[in-house]
Amino acid sequence: MQSLSHLPSPHFFILSLFLFLYSTLLCLTVTAATCHVDDESGLLAFKSGITSDPSGKLNSWSPGTDCCKWYGITCGDNNRVTTITFNGQPGNSTTFLSGTISPSLSKLHSLNGIYLQDTGTLSGTFPSSLLTLQNLQYVYIENNKLSGRIPGNIGDLTGLVAFSVDGNRFSGPIPSSVSKLTQLIQLKFGGNLLTGTIPIGIQQLKNLTFLDLGPNRLTGTIPDFFSSLTELRILRLSHNKLSGTIPPSISLLSSNLIYLELGHNALTGQIPDFLGKFHGLDTLDLSWNRLSGTVPKSFGNLTKIFNLDLSHNFLVDPFPEMNVKGIESLDLSYNGFHLGEIPKWVTSSTIIYSLKLAKCGIKTNLDNWKPVETYFYDYIDLSENEVSGSPVGLLNRTNYLVGFWVEGNRVRFNMESLKFPKTLKYLDLSRNLVFGKLPLAISGLEKMNVSHNHLCGKIPATKFPASAFVGNDCLCGPPLQPCKV
Ligand SMILES: *[C@@H]1O[C@H](CO)[C@@H](O)[C@H](O)[C@H]1NC(C)=O
Ligand SMILES: *[C@@H]1O[C@H](CO)[C@@H](O)[C@H](O)[C@H]1NC(C)=O
Ligand SMILES: *[C@@H]1O[C@H](CO)[C@@H](O)[C@H](O)[C@H]1NC(C)=O
Ligand SMILES: *[C@@H]1O[C@H](CO)[C@@H](O)[C@H](O)[C@H]1NC(C)=O
Ligand SMILES: *[C@@H]1O[C@H](CO)[C@@H](O)[C@H](O)[C@H]1NC(C)=O
Repeated sequence: MQSLSHLPSPHFFILSLFLFLYSTLLCLTVTAATCHVDDESGLLAFKSGITSDPSGKLNSWSPGTDCCKWYGITCGDNNRVTTITFNGQPGNSTTFLSGTISPSLSKLHSLNGIYLQDTGTLSGTFPSSLLTLQNLQYVYIENNKLSGRIPGNIGDLTGLVAFSVDGNRFSGPIPSSVSKLTQLIQLKFGGNLLTGTIPIGIQQLKNLTFLDLGPNRLTGTIPDFFSSLTELRILRLSHNKLSGTIPPSISLLSSNLIYLELGHNALTGQIPDFLGKFHGLDTLDLSWNRLSGTVPKSFGNLTKIFNLDLSHNFLVDPFPEMNVKGIESLDLSYNGFHLGEIPKWVTSSTIIYSLKLAKCGIKTNLDNWKPVETYFYDYIDLSENEVSGSPVGLLNRTNYLVGFWVEGNRVRFNMESLKFPKTLKYLDLSRNLVFGKLPLAISGLEKMNVSHNHLCGKIPATKFPASAFVGNDCLCGPPLQPCKV
C-alpha cells in the first residue's frame, strides 16, 4: 500500500472501491466453497449407516462444515464430491468400519470413485441406488462382508473403468449385464461365494487387463473367449469348480500375460504347449487340478517365471530343463515325477524363498546339496522322497525359515545338533532316522512331528500330542509313558 499513497486521490478512491469489491467477492467465493447440500446430506446418511468407527475417521464429518474437507473426501472443480476413500489395514480391526453402505450415496451426482478397501466389517448388500450414478468410474469395495447378489443391472454403470468387490460374501451368479461394461480395465469378483458359469459376455470387455474370478464356486468350463481379451495381463480363475480343458484361445494372451492362476479347479487334459511362448509370464499356477501328460518342453523358454506351481496333478516325467534366471517359488509336489536330483536351476537361484518337491523322487544327500543362496528361504518341503544325509548345515544357513518338512525320507542326524532360526513354526521330521535327544527349542514351534525315528530321552514340556512322538526308540515322559528312574 506504500506506493499507492503517492497516487492522486481520485485514483486512490477508485482503487479503494475496487479493493472493497474484490474482498467482498472473495468473501462470497469462500461462502460458495462449501460442498453441495445434496452431497452433504448423502454423506451424513452414509455416516449414520456406520455403526462402529474405532479409529474415528468420521469424526470430522459434522453438519454445516465444508464436506469437501472431511476425512476421505475429495471434490472436483465444481465443489461436488468426486471420491470417497477409506482404506483399512488387513487384520487390524482398529482401522475397520462396521455398518452398511447407505443408499443415499446416490445423491452424490458427481461421484467418480468409491474406495472402501480392507475396511473389514462393512456388511449388507450392494446398494443398487448407486447404479444411477452415471459419473461413477471406480468402485473398489474390497475385503469387507457385503453379501447378497451383485445387482443384475450392474451393466447400467456403462462408464465403469474398474469394478472390484474382491473378498466379500456375494452369492448368486455373475450378472450377464457385465457385458455392457465395455470400458472396464479391471474386473475383480474373487473371494466371494458366486455360483453359476462364467458369463460369455465378458468377451465384450476388450479393454480388460485384470480379470479375477476366484476363489468362488463357479462351475462349467473356461469359455474359449480370449481372442477378444488380448490386453489381459492378469487372469485369475483359481479356487473354483471349473472343469474341462485349458481353452486354446488362451494362446492369444501370450504377448501381455504376466500372471495366470487356474489352480484348485477340476481341469483335465494336458498342459498346452503354447504356454511356453508366454515370454513375460512370471506366475503360473495350475495346481490342484487333474492335468495329465508331460510338462511341455517349451517351458524351457519361460525365462522370466518366478512362481511356478504345478503341484497335485497327474503329471509325469520327463520334467523339462528350465532356463529361468532365478526362481522364487516352485511347487511340483504330488505328481508322478521322478526328478532324482533337486534341479540345478533351483539350486542356483539366488532369490528362492519357497521350494516344495514332495513326492518328486528326489534322491539327494542333503550334505552334498549346496544351494547358492539360503538367506530368503521361508519354506522347504522335501517330504516323501529318498532324501538322505543331515539337514543341520542347511537349517543353520537359513535366516527366516518358517516351515521345514522332510517326513518319510532317510534323513539321519543327531537331533541335539539341530539349530533353527527363531522364525521356524513348522517342523516335520517324522519317519526318518533321526537319533539323540529332543532340544528344548522345539517347544516354541507351532506344529512339530518327530514320530517314527530313533530318538531317546525325556520329552521337553510341549503342547504337541502323543502322535507327534510315537514310534521312537526310547522317548519318554508326557505325553508318552513316564520315564523309568
Ligand atoms: C492398528 O491401527 C491403529 C490405527 O491406525 C494403529 O494405531 C495401530 O498401530 C495399528 N496396529 C497394528 C498392530 O498395526
Ligand atoms: C478402451 O479401448 C478403446 C480402444 O482402444 C479406447 O478408445 C478407450 O479409451 C479405452 N477405454 C479406457 C477406459 O481406457
Ligand atoms: C524356444 O524359443 C525359440 C525361439 O522362439 C524356439 O526356436 C525354440 O524351439 C523354443 N524352445 C522350445 C523348447 O520350445
Ligand atoms: C552354524 O553356523 C555357524 C556360523 O556360520 C558356524 O560357526 C557353525 O559351525 C554352524 N553349525 C553347524 C552345526 O553347522
Ligand atoms: C505325525 O506323523 C505321523 C506319521 O507321519 C502321523 O501319523 C501323525 O498323525 C502325525 N502327528 C501329528 C501331531 O502331526
